[in-house]
Amino acid sequence: MYQSCAVFQTLLLTLCLGFSLKTGQCLKQKYFVKSSVCEIPYINPFAADTMKDFQKRTYRECHNDSDLVTSEFDFKLNQYRLHLHKNLARRMLNGSMGNATLECKYQKISRDRINEKPDNSYSEFKSRPLPDYLLVPKHTDFMITKCYVKDQKKQLKLLQTDGLTFIEEHLQQEDQKKAYAQQQRQNPKPSVLMLGLDSTSRMNLRRAMPLVYKYVSQPGWFELQGYNKVGDNTFPNLLAVLSGHSPNTLAKMCNVSKIGCLDRVPFIWKRFKRSNYTTAFAEDCKGINTFNYLLPGFQVQPVDYYLRPFLVAIESKFPVTKNFGFPFCVGRRLSFDYVWDFGRQFVDRFVKNRNIFGFLWSNSFTHDYYTATTALEQLFLKHLHSFEASGLFEHSIVILMSDHGHRYNTLRQSASGYYEERLPMMFIYVPPWFRQQYPHLVDNLRRNRNRLSSSYDLHMTLQHLLQLESTSLADFSMKHRSVACPSCQSLLFELPVNRACQQAGIDEKWCCCHATKTLKKNGFVRTLALAVVRRMNDHLVKRNFSHICHNFTLTHVHKIVRRLEQPADDNSLEEDETVYILQFWTFPNQPRFEATVRWNHRKHKLHMDVEDLSRLNSYNGDSNCINDKIAKKYCICKDSIRTIKRTPKGTTKPTTPRKIVEQYGYFSGLK
Ligand SMILES: *[C@@H]1O[C@H](CO)[C@@H](O)[C@H](O)[C@H]1NC(C)=O
Ligand SMILES: *[C@@H]1O[C@H](CO)[C@@H](O)[C@H](O)[C@H]1NC(C)=O
Ligand SMILES: *[C@@H]1O[C@H](CO)[C@@H](O)[C@H](O)[C@H]1NC(C)=O
Ligand SMILES: *[C@@H]1O[C@H](CO)[C@@H](O)[C@H](O)[C@H]1NC(C)=O
Ligand SMILES: *[C@@H]1O[C@H](CO)[C@@H](O)[C@H](O)[C@H]1NC(C)=O
Ligand SMILES: *[C@@H]1O[C@H](CO)[C@@H](O)[C@H](O)[C@H]1NC(C)=O
Ligand SMILES: *[C@@H]1O[C@H](CO)[C@@H](O)[C@H](O)[C@H]1NC(C)=O
Repeated sequence: MYQSCAVFQTLLLTLCLGFSLKTGQCLKQKYFVKSSVCEIPYINPFAADTMKDFQKRTYRECHNDSDLVTSEFDFKLNQYRLHLHKNLARRMLNGSMGNATLECKYQKISRDRINEKPDNSYSEFKSRPLPDYLLVPKHTDFMITKCYVKDQKKQLKLLQTDGLTFIEEHLQQEDQKKAYAQQQRQNPKPSVLMLGLDSTSRMNLRRAMPLVYKYVSQPGWFELQGYNKVGDNTFPNLLAVLSGHSPNTLAKMCNVSKIGCLDRVPFIWKRFKRSNYTTAFAEDCKGINTFNYLLPGFQVQPVDYYLRPFLVAIESKFPVTKNFGFPFCVGRRLSFDYVWDFGRQFVDRFVKNRNIFGFLWSNSFTHDYYTATTALEQLFLKHLHSFEASGLFEHSIVILMSDHGHRYNTLRQSASGYYEERLPMMFIYVPPWFRQQYPHLVDNLRRNRNRLSSSYDLHMTLQHLLQLESTSLADFSMKHRSVACPSCQSLLFELPVNRACQQAGIDEKWCCCHATKTLKKNGFVRTLALAVVRRMNDHLVKRNFSHICHNFTLTHVHKIVRRLEQPADDNSLEEDETVYILQFWTFPNQPRFEATVRWNHRKHKLHMDVEDLSRLNSYNGDSNCINDKIAKKYCICKDSIRTIKRTPKGTTKPTTPRKIVEQYGYFSGLK
């Protein structure tokens, strides 16, 4: 009897790869984080509901002609050189040039130093003839070239126009080189390159770019599987990483909508600069750049090498074709490639002879379509390999990251949508020399892979890289701690095992630590949903939006879950209070919302911040009347009401997201 039972259990064990004697159940559940105060389940990237619309995407190249003008850096002369390839022009003209000649010109582009908002502008200089070979005049950061065919009648026909970037020397070369060589001998510091793809969860990386996932699973890479976002959209999450601030702590310093405010923020690149690093920042899609979307941008150029003026110039001057929701081809090239080629130039030029800090961010491909990420895979791998060829991984800490996951449409509406949105990918690469010199720090990083961490911790990690002699958080002056989360710490120090969201600076709304239970829809659920919608209507009045935004009417409760609090959890909940996460649709225009609310069962009191609502579908076409980034999520403009037939019962049949896509495109402005 006993024996047969044991055999049975062994069998079960083999079948389940885990078996609980207590409950007699298979322990299939894996976790990203599991502690007494935080449980983040492992999310299967290939669950049926996230795969149902999934298909591999491809894209068309932006051009199929050859570059008439190419550039290379001459390390001896310390200058860029341009080559004009006339023979290629002949081929492009099918050998029928006849007596026609090729004439090329170039025009220097630079940052507009006079404009009140220089980030929204650029300066262009006089067009000059481009000879067959040209040593690019020093202090040329960007250039636009144009090649014409000139026929016998001296008529010019444009054959090709292109944009080129140069990483020009801004500093005294020799001094720098000596200082760097000396410092690397005595006390080497790592260079740092941050590579960001917008809206990419760690699940979607596995799902859509398995080869990139494999690349970042190689030795030296560490995945922070407990990395949880701290804010809704790009701005708060990147602000946290790059400055340690939240929008609230920033507001105490200055009004971010006012020109000059962003210049005062203690961005980490400033400290890198003070530590003799050379700095760069590049991002694609000018309309939604992190520090420019509905913001005035930087008045003073923030880093040594800043792509923005060039981006503004090419998006204004070149034909732009959209794909996957955003500028895709800008002139002859992918908007993506301008950023990563610029990054490659920067790395090539400096990584071997000085410390660099670079921040590259891309919105095209990944921002709006989670399947478009599949089209990026080969291209992204190509860039990673090219960074590898330039020696980046021998010298530098490399961070592959995202700000958040998909926040609307298919992925967000899947069963794991709550996690998709909140768990951005986060991979940190540590070069061999660093692993050798700081084995204890690397051990800490390894341990931290499955502990709860946040964007503020990543900020502290960057701070740590500039003071590697520190042994604990106590060694960091208040100036170098995260203002929004002073207890947050470097990921190269061991994080506490039992760490709650509060300690990591993660608000309840974004916290993935709590297990939840899905509830059946009943009278109470409807009461709660109606209270939520009423609160939303009151909010329109309170914010004085009711003259432009339509009132909401509840049409459908999609899903409701109750948060199961952890035993040793924080004490943010009042007695008799329960946290619910409610997904519901409203009339008109069928917006889909998710609200995280607290309900006091005794007092029947709702605790909710309408500004924190999540919008699960695109608001494109709903909110053009309003410019407030947050209000755009919920305002249904009175001038944009689409008539959707209401069924007699007073409920509307929700339109599928796909229909909405067809009508309005995905762009949500949710940036
Ligand atoms: C080359 O590109 C142009 C412009 O994108 C396009 O119209 C043309 O069809 C392409 N030709 C080939 C052979 O792919
Ligand atoms: C060259 O030939 C191709 C195909 O034969 C044609 O599409 C193209 O327009 C020609 N180019 C010129 C400049 O005549
Ligand atoms: C080229 O120019 C010469 C002299 O002007 C003329 O004789 C000849 O016919 C031209 N060739 C063509 C292909 O137009
Ligand atoms: C910040 O500045 C903007 C633009 O000048 C203004 O509309 C807004 O009211 C200001 N906000 C605060 C909190 O002062
Ligand atoms: C930066 O480099 C200069 C020499 O160019 C050196 O004097 C200075 O100490 C360095 N500063 C730091 C923080 O390493
Ligand atoms: C909209 O909602 C507000 C707040 O609940 C209410 O005062 C107002 O009467 C409503 N307006 C309409 C047209 O229903
Ligand atoms: C509300 O908005 C209206 C229309 O823009 C304006 O006339 C009114 O002064 C605003 N009221 C408040 C309290 O801001």
